Amino acid sequence: MSSAQIAARFVKQLEPDDISVLRSLQHSLLSHETAPLPVISRMTGLHRDQTLYRLDRLYELGLVNRQRDGYVVVTRGLDAIALHAMVARGLISGLGSSLGVGKESDVYEAFENSSIYAIKFFRIGRTSFRAVRRSRSYGVGNLRYLAINVRAAAKEYKALEKLYQCGVAVPKPIARESHAILMAKIIGQRLSDLRKLAKPNHVISDLLMNIRKAYLQTGLISGDLSEFNVLSDGVSSWIIDWPQLVGLTHPNASTFLEKDIGNILKFFRRRFGLDYDQDAAEQYVKGMRKSLSRKASLSH
Ligand SMILES: Nc1ncnc2c1ncn2[C@@H]1O[C@H](COP(=O)(O)OP(=O)(O)O)[C@@H](O)[C@H]1O
Ligand SMILES: [Mg+2]
Repeated sequence: MSSAQIAARFVKQLEPDDISVLRSLQHSLLSHETAPLPVISRMTGLHRDQTLYRLDRLYELGLVNRQRDGYVVVTRGLDAIALHAMVARGLISGLGSSLGVGKESDVYEAFENSSIYAIKFFRIGRTSFRAVRRSRSYGVGNLRYLAINVRAAAKEYKALEKLYQCGVAVPKPIARESHAILMAKIIGQRLSDLRKLAKPNHVISDLLMNIRKAYLQTGLISGDLSEFNVLSDGVSSWIIDWPQLVGLTHPNASTFLEKDIGNILKFFRRRFGLDYDQDAAEQYVKGMRKSLSRKASLSH
C-alpha cells in the first residue's frame, strides 16, 4: 500500500489536536526546520505532556519522525494533512485506485458522492525520500525537498486556475492543500499509449491551438510538454503536468516553447506520419500567423 493510501486509512482516526501538531510541523518544514517539543507546544497551544502524547501517537502511525533536535513530519504525514483538509472541506470522502505514477508524483482517484476526481501528490525528490525512510533520519537537504513539493503544487494549481479560466484544455482545478492538488479526472489515456487515432490531424491541431491559447492568453509555456503529458480520449486532449511552466517573459521562454512544440510535432510525425513545419507551428502559437497549415505558404 502506498503512502497516500496508508494516510487515507489514518485520516478518520486523527483528532483535532493531532492535526494541529501535524500542521505546526508542516509549518516548520516550510522554513526547513525541525521543531523541538517546546516550539510545537507553543505553536499549538497544547500543554507539553499533551503535545508529547500526540507526537508519540503520530510517530506510532508513521506520520512523524523523531530527530535529535526535534520532530519532522514525513511524506505520509503530509499526505494525511492534505487529505484531512480536503475531507473537512467536504470535497472528498475517499481515495480510490492509482491513476498513474509519474516522474514526480503519485496520482489517485478520489471520490465524493457520485463525483470522481484525480488527486496528485507531489513527490519531487522521491528517491531521496526513500533513503530517508530507510534511515529514519532527516538532513537539511531532505527538509528542503518537502518544502519544494508544497511550492510545486501551489505553482501548478495557480497555473491550472489561470489556464482553465482562459479555456485552455487542462483538468479543472478543484482545490490545493499542502503538496496535493485535487482536479477533474480525465477519462482518457496518455497520448504516448494511443496507437491509433481516427483523425490524428484534428488531434494535433487541437493541441497546438491549446498551446497557442496558453501562450497568448495566459502567457504560460508548459516547459515539460510531450506525448507523456497529454491525456486524450481520441478526439479531445488535455494538457497536464504544469509545475515546470515558465512565463513568456522568462529569458529562455523561446527555447522552452520550441522544445514543447518540437516534442509534439516529432511524436505525430513518427507515429502518425504527419509533417508539420516547426517554424510555422511556432509562428502560429505566437500569434504571428492566423491558422495552422501543413503548407506554410498558404497560411499567411
Ligand atoms: N487529471 C487527471 N486525470 C486522470 N489521470 C491523471 C490526471 N492527472 C494525472 N494523471 C495520471 O497521472 C500520471 C502522472 O501525472 P503528471 O501530472 O504527469 O505527473 P508527473 O510530474 O509525475 O509526470 C499521468 O501520466 C496520468 O496517467
Ligand atoms: Mg508527467
